[in-house]
Amino acid sequence: MSVNIAVLPGDGIGPEIVRETLKVLDVLNAHFGLNAECEEGLIGGAGYDGAGDPYPAATQRLVRASDAVLLGAVGGPQWEALDKPLRPEAGLLRIREDLGLFANYRPAKVQKQLLDASTLKPEVIEGVDILVVRELVSGIYFGQPRGIAEVDGERRGFNTMAYRESEIRRIARKAFEAARLRSHRVCSVEKANVLEVSELWRSVVMEVHQAEFTDVELSHMYVDNAAMQLIRNPKQFDVIVTGNLFGDILSDEASMLTGSIGMLPSASIGEKYAMYEPIHGSAPDIAGQDKANPLATILSLAMMLRYSLQREDLAQKLEQAVDQTLDDGVRTVDLAFNGEAAVSCSGMGDAVAERLRALGEG
Ligand code: IPM
Ligand code: MG
Repeated sequence: MSVNIAVLPGDGIGPEIVRETLKVLDVLNAHFGLNAECEEGLIGGAGYDGAGDPYPAATQRLVRASDAVLLGAVGGPQWEALDKPLRPEAGLLRIREDLGLFANYRPAKVQKQLLDASTLKPEVIEGVDILVVRELVSGIYFGQPRGIAEVDGERRGFNTMAYRESEIRRIARKAFEAARLRSHRVCSVEKANVLEVSELWRSVVMEVHQAEFTDVELSHMYVDNAAMQLIRNPKQFDVIVTGNLFGDILSDEASMLTGSIGMLPSASIGEKYAMYEPIHGSAPDIAGQDKANPLATILSLAMMLRYSLQREDLAQKLEQAVDQTLDDGVRTVDLAFNGEAAVSCSGMGDAVAERLRALGEG
């Protein structure tokens, strides 16, 4: 039985990191009996350039017919002057909303080989294993009203942070369920000392906990404190559940615990569809130079194998291949501290593919 993967490379370093990930997928097809068929589509700036829309209708048809979506990254300076709905980021938000991908899983696990790559002290980050569960299709990213309007002779910009009970309930459930497979601890992050939307968030999370998940330990933290605690003592966290905006910020912060934002994969999952993408952006400053770290995208493929393709066995093999690659000292420039020699993006892809192939033959 074959599986269909919709591949959306996007902009900037997107095409390079996706190319390396497809190399790895080829190995899974050739040596591990995976039968994945890929079809590429346009998204973001590439969608605008190619089809006049950052989320073209053809891409919508493609992803809706797929078993899973692999996305690179979107955005770049050449599209910044466009009207907001035409910008690359609008395409990303639309595909998330269109596919109902409300649960965004962003694991930040410190790899032992990269302890020195973090700007934090090794003893602070050693053993860190955090899962940020970010609500992805509501909150201030999507709330109405929004806009910039003329008020009393000056411009006023405004957005609305809003959550419905049902939206809080479903993401809270996902976080508790994830915690059951880990250390059974959830920390819900909001700003309930100031915001009503956060007050509701906290009380609904408590209701869900009381009704269905008393075996999981629940704590609450204000987002400013959480940002501080993540740096002060990250090991205190297991699962963090939070809204769209706070999750965006805290997941970037959590990524730096691991040494490089180039390492963090993510899964965005809804009732029917799922999309896998690195948490980093399109890095236009190094695009096309074969310098980017493809590991976040390669590890996103591992998440796809695990959650959409029900191939935990292959997910583990792939993660093992990445682990061995790091053990062997292979580093892209973002990971090369201590003056180590750096390999290119394609060099890293080859290194992982080679080790994966060996695991298949062994
Ligand atoms: C992310 C990104 C996006 C977001 C941008 C590109 C719209 O930062 O996936 O974290 O803010 O969600
Ligand atoms: Mg972000």
